Amino acid sequence: MIFVTGAGGTVGGELVKKLLALGVKFRAGYHSSAKAEEAKQRGVDSVAIDFANPEALQPLLRGVDKLFLISGNIPHQDELELNVVREAKKAGVRHTVKNSVWGAESEAFSFAKVHRPVEREIEASGVTYTFLRPNGYMQNMSSFYAQTIKTQGAFYLPAGEARISHIDVRDIAGVAAKVLTGTGHEGKAYDLTGPEALTYSQIAEKLSAATGKKVSYAAISDAEFKRAMVSSRAPEEAADAIIELLHYYLSGQASRISPAVRQITGKEPISFSQYARDYAASFLQEARAAG
Ligand SMILES: NC(=O)c1ccc[n+]([C@@H]2O[C@H](COP(=O)([O-])OP(=O)(O)OC[C@H]3O[C@@H](n4cnc5c(N)ncnc54)[C@H](OP(=O)(O)O)[C@@H]3O)[C@@H](O)[C@H]2O)c1
Repeated sequence: MIFVTGAGGTVGGELVKKLLALGVKFRAGYHSSAKAEEAKQRGVDSVAIDFANPEALQPLLRGVDKLFLISGNIPHQDELELNVVREAKKAGVRHTVKNSVWGAESEAFSFAKVHRPVEREIEASGVTYTFLRPNGYMQNMSSFYAQTIKTQGAFYLPAGEARISHIDVRDIAGVAAKVLTGTGHEGKAYDLTGPEALTYSQIAEKLSAATGKKVSYAAISDAEFKRAMVSSRAPEEAADAIIELLHYYLSGQASRISPAVRQITGKEPISFSQYARDYAASFLQEARAAG
């Protein structure tokens, strides 16, 4: 059986949909008990889990052979994920598929510095693994920048004209579903990207075309970005981590296109234009979205 952690999250939620469509046996782990209950009502074999309470995972992992491991950018993410890796090994899980990050191997920015040590411990643990290393999610636009796009027709980042081969999370889920239900992916680390590398100015143009309203990108300074994040109550470290990531993007290291989505799923990766059309309502004020 497959066990999906982070089932209520951006990637995990899409993976649950893919596995339901495939009709395979899986269990979905939600941090929020309300989400676990709601999924149960929909007929999903779901449980509430907390990576900070690893002993409670033991009975839930019994009979599981493949684990999808993901958590958000939360405090002590590395320790929490390693708790799960240890419990999975004890429970006899054969294969762990970890959602990591593009450039993890570089350990050049905060997110990579969190993910690579977890990858290293998984490698050293002797369990079979596959690492998924996605580039920035297209869905970051609808999750994090939709609010100012709705109210001001603009989004603001200290990213200059960096080119990034963003990926749609539905493709990450598609790859995860293939890896979890197939073979031949053992001991591999897959770089995952969309089909093209775009600047945020090009992203703004595509959002304008999809929504039928003008969307602009304003390149701001690191200090302006940090001030805005902190004033919206984000922790200072979260702002710093994003700024570091954007510096990595600016160094040109996030513009490569990987063939992995096509090779693993047999389908072309979703383009940003397609994502923008599918999520257009997220960028429009409620009245427009409804009408
Ligand atoms: N955003 C990007 O562009 C990007 C790109 C590459 C890699 N990544 C990596 O991808 C991951 C984020 O993926 P995502 O956007 O799918 O995350 P997400 O939407 O934040 O989902 C993470 C899930 O983790 C669960 N969770 C939180 N604390 C937990 C705990 N203590 N125990 C068990 N589960 C817990 C949450 O459950 P509930 O929903 O039930 O609360 C949530 O569903 C991060 O590791 C990030 O570094 C992100």
